[in-house]
Amino acid sequence: MVFKHDIVIVGAGLAGLRAALEVTGEGDVALISKVYPTRSHSGAAQGGIAAALGNEEPDSWEWHMYDTVKGGDYLTDQNVAEILARDAPRAVYELEHMGVPFNRMADGKIAQRAFGGHTRNFGEAAVKRACYAADRSGRVIMDALYFEAVRKGIRIYSEFQMLDLVFRDGQTAGLVAYETATGELHFFHCRMILLATGGYGKVFKTTSNAFASTGDGVYLPYRAGLPLEDMEFVQFHPTGIHRLGVLISEAARGEGGILRNGEGERFMERYAPTIKDLAPRDMVSRAIALEIREGRGIGGQDYVHLDLTHLGEKKLQERLSDISSFVRIYLGVDPSREPVPIAPTCHYMMGGIPTSTEGEVLDVEGKCVPGLYAAGECSCLSLHGANRLGCNSLLDLVVFGRRAGQKMAGELVRLPWQDAPQRPEEETARRISRLKEKGEGEKIGVLRGELQEAMTLHCSVFRTEESLKKALARIEELQDRYSRARVDNTGSRFNTDLLDGLELECLLGLAEAMVHAALARRESRGAHSREDYRERDDDQFLRHSLVWRRNGRVQVDYKPVTITRFQPKARTY
Ligand code: FUM
Repeated sequence: MVFKHDIVIVGAGLAGLRAALEVTGEGDVALISKVYPTRSHSGAAQGGIAAALGNEEPDSWEWHMYDTVKGGDYLTDQNVAEILARDAPRAVYELEHMGVPFNRMADGKIAQRAFGGHTRNFGEAAVKRACYAADRSGRVIMDALYFEAVRKGIRIYSEFQMLDLVFRDGQTAGLVAYETATGELHFFHCRMILLATGGYGKVFKTTSNAFASTGDGVYLPYRAGLPLEDMEFVQFHPTGIHRLGVLISEAARGEGGILRNGEGERFMERYAPTIKDLAPRDMVSRAIALEIREGRGIGGQDYVHLDLTHLGEKKLQERLSDISSFVRIYLGVDPSREPVPIAPTCHYMMGGIPTSTEGEVLDVEGKCVPGLYAAGECSCLSLHGANRLGCNSLLDLVVFGRRAGQKMAGELVRLPWQDAPQRPEEETARRISRLKEKGEGEKIGVLRGELQEAMTLHCSVFRTEESLKKALARIEELQDRYSRARVDNTGSRFNTDLLDGLELECLLGLAEAMVHAALARRESRGAHSREDYRERDDDQFLRHSLVWRRNGRVQVDYKPVTITRFQPKARTY
């Protein structure tokens, strides 16, 4: 079937919803989502949204901007960080006016809590900057925006999975999507597409990400020959539930939680003497990995403890009730009485589709691709640099989702329709048939498991040339085996086996891009920690990487970082 809309937004998380609210009324807009919209991964965000409101303690947008730049190990484009920090208070008040039930102070102002890497007066001490709703901040913001979208009558195609992007004469013409309930392929003929499909933590074995975080919207432009930016920067959140990777919010440390090693030592005092447990995530994850490697994990094992026992039951119930119940359910641990076993878990991708500050997708030469936009975790605005600060993600989604929506609304009058191509879904139908053909090929789940294992072993918190080359060899071998892989379920309705098979192509392609970029960056910066190149090398690598495929070969090149107010210096906390 063919659907026709001016604008199709792919992904119904916060970036997609916020953009949709901005363009509705300007043109005919539709949202497509591979999951039921309110199950989008933004809803899993726990700790809060950053804004220098100064409600609890003095604060300023400049300090927020500085922290974002320093947190990103100076790979952050400073013009972008300035937009974020300046616009943050407006964005939070807008959410408040939409009905988001933020926690309050006694005087009725929005309450704020401390979060990793957020400081007062350019690094002097931690500051309370995160606005929050207990530990379900993403959930309540999602609900408010979804309610607005429904109220405005925005058309939502739920459980439709994008499988191909279609361009004509270099301009966006539409996309091919698979309807999970029926197995039908549809063509969405449109003038503009906004990709807002989230991240791809499923490349790794242990992740805080949802099952749907397979990076489809990041991979499809890459398959079409467009570049991806800063793919080597993968954020490992320090506090995932041991072995499961389920997120224990940084808010737990913002509220006073303490990390302890097997000797009971508060080891972050050694790594970040000023802000200790509230250092940025890359530093805390590295510290945990080192403690474990040096035999100071709990009982010499591969985890440390997050101690919340001194916070008391009342505070845990009021501020951290979801994570308290996760810990009880998954570990059988009562966090008010016992410390919680934790280890780093893949949480967020700093890299993605390069965009302008208005969400326009950029090609290798930095030119806009007509009609193609991206926002949220799938995009790379050059905002988070080499390491994102906690609570800057929800903010990024609503600030830059809105900006992308405004830009699309403005461009709509100028952008002509492209004719729909003949049989645009043909290539996708071929891919599906190949997977469904019963042959001798291996099962998708086996290949995916091997990929996740290899990436976790060789391309995790620490990397070396040797480990990355091993990862690359495994990815290439798995891509070869994938070309003969099969799915067991050949049916049409709710065939998740088939969808897993289609998503594996995305995961393999994104792993390939990550490893190529990581091999090329011979320095350590932010979340990219090369044990064979331990220092940051601004002379050679104060640049954003771009990685793309041309004629079957992967290319890597670089583009400059925008520096306005803060010159790079040593990053200590
Ligand atoms: O720890 C957290 O609550 C996560 C927040 C974030 O990634 O921004």
